[in-house]
Amino acid sequence: MKKMPVWLTLVIVVIACNNNPSSDTGKKDDTKFAGIPDRKWWKEAIVYQLYPRSFKDSDGDGIGDLRGIISKLDYLQSLGIDAVWLNPIYSSPNDDNGYDVSDYRDIMKDFGTMEDFDALLKGLHERNIKIVMDLVVNHSSDEHEWFKQSRSARNNPYRNYYHWWNAEKGKPPYRYSLFDINHDAWMYDSLTNAYYLHYFSRKQPDLNWENPQVRKEVYDIMKFWADKGIDGFRLDAFQFVSKDTTYPAFPKGFEKNFILYYAMGKNLHGYLQEMNREVFSKYNMMSVAEGAGNTFEDAHNLVDAGRKELDMAYAFEGVDIGNPKGYDFLRFKEVYSRWDSAFAEKGWLSVFLANHDQARMVSRFGNDGPAYRDVSSKMLNTFVLTMRGTPYCYYGDELAMTNIGFDKIEDYRDVPTLNEYQYQKKTGGNMQEFMEKIKNSCRDNGRTPFQWDTTAHAGFTSGTPWIRVNPNYTSLNAAAQEKDPESVLNYFRKLVKLRKENPVLVYGKYTLLDKSNPKVYAYTRELNGEKWMLLLNFSKDAIDYNFHEYKTINKSLVLSNYADAPEVAGPSVKLRPYQAVIYKML
Ligand code: GLC
Repeated sequence: MKKMPVWLTLVIVVIACNNNPSSDTGKKDDTKFAGIPDRKWWKEAIVYQLYPRSFKDSDGDGIGDLRGIISKLDYLQSLGIDAVWLNPIYSSPNDDNGYDVSDYRDIMKDFGTMEDFDALLKGLHERNIKIVMDLVVNHSSDEHEWFKQSRSARNNPYRNYYHWWNAEKGKPPYRYSLFDINHDAWMYDSLTNAYYLHYFSRKQPDLNWENPQVRKEVYDIMKFWADKGIDGFRLDAFQFVSKDTTYPAFPKGFEKNFILYYAMGKNLHGYLQEMNREVFSKYNMMSVAEGAGNTFEDAHNLVDAGRKELDMAYAFEGVDIGNPKGYDFLRFKEVYSRWDSAFAEKGWLSVFLANHDQARMVSRFGNDGPAYRDVSSKMLNTFVLTMRGTPYCYYGDELAMTNIGFDKIEDYRDVPTLNEYQYQKKTGGNMQEFMEKIKNSCRDNGRTPFQWDTTAHAGFTSGTPWIRVNPNYTSLNAAAQEKDPESVLNYFRKLVKLRKENPVLVYGKYTLLDKSNPKVYAYTRELNGEKWMLLLNFSKDAIDYNFHEYKTINKSLVLSNYADAPEVAGPSVKLRPYQAVIYKML
């Protein structure tokens, strides 16, 4: 046989590499993934959201920092996760824990230095963990140089970096502020006799995205971090950036539904396409924005591949349902199923039950009492890690960390909560009701320090923690769970591994079963002739669950959150309280 010339072999190899559907995933192709179209690393990734302020303190000032995270890199690797999303770590006076940035190219003093960041990036990449940064550009801090310039004079070149309303025109049409002590988003500034706009706190003035100079600054900032080698951005509050700068009056009471008025301004898609052209298209990065508009159409318009805007939608309808006092479970199933089916053919979703703006997952969706805390947390983790979409797992949920439930206002740190407390007091609100509400729902519940071990302050810091440590750390902590093969932590690791090894859990078709069952969430996932079934008991009742149309099909048990296998009796399986069972149909 005639030998192929070397140059031809090379050409063939190059062509083959370019056609490899897995080239975007950074992994070797594998028969399990054969024939899957549009594979992307960020679809296959499991994202771990890490709140740097509360993860690990290395210098004893009571505040988590980058060196602290570096000291726990092996722990992160041991989880098996693929990417870490870091809440903001840029310079900030910390009115809103870093969501008020005073320098986008520097690191917050509390968190360390740029050298620390570079070391963190290197350490993560060495362990094959990607890093996604929070990008907070709907607003900056009022201590950012741009704002200092902007407010200094009406004719300052930075004036139009923000939204100003000159006071001689009278009061501007009302805008609701989510964080302001008076709920008013216009703040009067006597220096230039004008009001500036702040949808969040007074120390978070909104940037004027209609100004091309602002957009260019943001793209330059993004490139600065992308050139360092980061792997993605989460765009904070981004759906609010495009505003009608004629500031028309909104109907009375609009604030009850402010997203309808604030989100998806008419230039938003144009800005995202510009950002994609200028930044995302030039790097192998993932992009996700907080919020997904008001409709499926909005969400698709943000993320469908052909539009060249963002990669995946991050919608709140599901996570918003959770409530420690009970929630509408049928609605929960309906919402997740509706979103899945709306994205079955096109677009990609994020799947999550918690983040830094929510109280703890197990307290809101499961049962955080001692009897069921661990098992219900395992069940919820099973849900997040077996749905279609990219799972976002929030730090501490791999241990079943719970709400702390502060009773005293002095224990709270969250700026909107503290401001709302003042507002309620001033306006004669029912303070008892208010305190009860924040005890269950304040986001400080989800921000308490990570519980490493039984030493002082849960091993988080040698100093005084910036927010109280949950006293349950003496029994609920990573060190104890490391040693226990049946712990939530070790179950979480098994789930992560299962998802990584089985593309059916990533790409497989999702079908809701038994939709009106008031206690069990049952669904199948199917891919390339493989079919898996998930049964999740969301209640504390034992249930004889009938397999219905699947009763005669042989099943092999893949995983359960109880140590011993569930008992199958004829056409049904006995599900114990909060039991999660994963079957593979044979
Ligand atoms: C987003 C963040 C939240 C922050 C707010 C203002 O909603 O997730 O934590 O307080 O934006 O930046």
